[in-house]
Amino acid sequence: MFNFKLSVAKDLYKCLLKLSSDIQLTENDLLSMFEYPPDSSLGDIAFPCFKLSKILRKAPPVIAKELSEVFSSDVISKAEAVNGYLNIFVSNEYLIKNVLFEIENKKDKYGSDLSGKGKVAVFDYSSPNVAKPFHIGHLGTTVIGHSLKKLHEFQGYDCVGINYLGDWGTQFGKLIVAYNMWGNKERIEKNGVDELVSLYVKFHNEAELDNELNQKARNEFTKLEHGDETNIALWKWFVDISLKEYQKTYKQLGIEFDSYKGESFYTDKMPEQVQKLRDLGLLKLDEGASIVDLSKYNMPPCLILKKDGSTLYPTRDIAAAVYRKNTYDFDKCIYVTAAGQSLHFAQWFKVVELMGYDWYDKLVHVPYGTVSINGEKLATRTGNVILLKDLFSTAIEKVNEIISEKNPNLENKEDVAEAVGVGSVVFYYLYNNRIKDINFVMSDALSFEGNTGPYAQYTYARTCGILEKAKDVNWQNSEPIITTNDEAELLKVLSKFNEAVNGAIKDYEPSIITRYIIDICSIFNKFYHNCNIITADDDKIKCSRIRLVNATKIVLGTAFGLICMKKTEKI
Ligand code: ARG
Repeated sequence: MFNFKLSVAKDLYKCLLKLSSDIQLTENDLLSMFEYPPDSSLGDIAFPCFKLSKILRKAPPVIAKELSEVFSSDVISKAEAVNGYLNIFVSNEYLIKNVLFEIENKKDKYGSDLSGKGKVAVFDYSSPNVAKPFHIGHLGTTVIGHSLKKLHEFQGYDCVGINYLGDWGTQFGKLIVAYNMWGNKERIEKNGVDELVSLYVKFHNEAELDNELNQKARNEFTKLEHGDETNIALWKWFVDISLKEYQKTYKQLGIEFDSYKGESFYTDKMPEQVQKLRDLGLLKLDEGASIVDLSKYNMPPCLILKKDGSTLYPTRDIAAAVYRKNTYDFDKCIYVTAAGQSLHFAQWFKVVELMGYDWYDKLVHVPYGTVSINGEKLATRTGNVILLKDLFSTAIEKVNEIISEKNPNLENKEDVAEAVGVGSVVFYYLYNNRIKDINFVMSDALSFEGNTGPYAQYTYARTCGILEKAKDVNWQNSEPIITTNDEAELLKVLSKFNEAVNGAIKDYEPSIITRYIIDICSIFNKFYHNCNIITADDDKIKCSRIRLVNATKIVLGTAFGLICMKKTEKI
């Protein structure tokens, strides 16, 4: 619809100039004034005449009425005045030439305007803490992060996806002590992260009884920091074991990272930044710790060094940001984390600004809300965690059951179950406004009715099924026509893809795409129920409708990719 608005704005501008030589508005102003009427029977776009009222010294309904009498444009079918609005209807020719033909020409590039060409965007997402559970709380950063990366890629940005692994810190001292005391190599190799987590949990339980253990852990971590070979080898092994397991989950989601540079990578890059802070007079001593005072900005101080001189989470983030700026020269560097970390980001972004780095305003924090499962909040400490891999395997299993019952002869059952199962979780999660807390209910996510992933995938598979049936029809070369409102509505919703993409990028909000997918599905299914497609009597109508199905398939398929949902041709 954006291009349609653009054309209408041009013609409307010319028309307004005829009404008055000085309308004090530009074509671009007009473009930004368009609205979508609440109901498409009122019009496809509406131009409010209230602003013009002062300039033209006429009441808005009068202006709308006058405009409706003189306004003409190649791209519209009619324009009507209603209560101070000029309601404008798109023409069928426009829908065919500028929507249908464009989708067919551009295929999976349709919807992109390459507005990110020449720009670099860095994404810091997923980033689990090694040897701690990769749980449902990480679902947000993983799928929102990846979706934002896909959206930017689609618009031509050069994207770098970074998994900033939590692979450094005192927890490794604890793990080394626990492993030396109770660990078993084979068990860890067999059970992976689960085994590391239980060692870690055991350490905590035992340390409550024996305080010495904490001191031992600190010693082991210090040894690690000083390059002790045995500890380094253990640490690398713990990281590898964890990474291998995370990668299984990433594979199910179709996620690949460009870099796995985690927190440990920045150990030798922090001193330079700490020195710079000191030289600038930004560091203050506070009970032995070094901090940056942020009271002027209504924030608690940003902690840079502990009493014992060791570095902290913000220190590493500052060093990592500088490294990324030098390495990638980004236009945006986006961090996706739980909203609980918002203060942390606000603080160190401010410190980067105070350090005089002029790119501080290219750092973006994208927070998201909490997840509970069936109404229960998650707590790592009490063990009430749902691991991501378990969540996905439950979903896959359930879909498997459904397939075995409803379509036992389906080819590639396993792949379909994975695409639909994992997709259902992702879709359900991304359907929400990201900042809202979400209560995850698996049966809702898996439902084939309502605004769900399975419903969207079923619709996609339906488009594939129709095209398969139409494979002997020579529909590609027909001359398309629109004969019903359902067909026109379908092209209209497909025309809004680019706006959905830009909206999702602007607000860092993948749910705009998820909701858009549902809009397409419901309009497509209405068209499917109301119109004969393969069975249409008239050849021209039949071919046109098949072309619409094909266009729907293209746009849906592209949109699925933008929210990390795999597609499946059959369900
Ligand atoms: N590892 C952290 C966690 O699990 C998230 C890291 C987010 N990224 C960052 N640059 N701080 O909480």
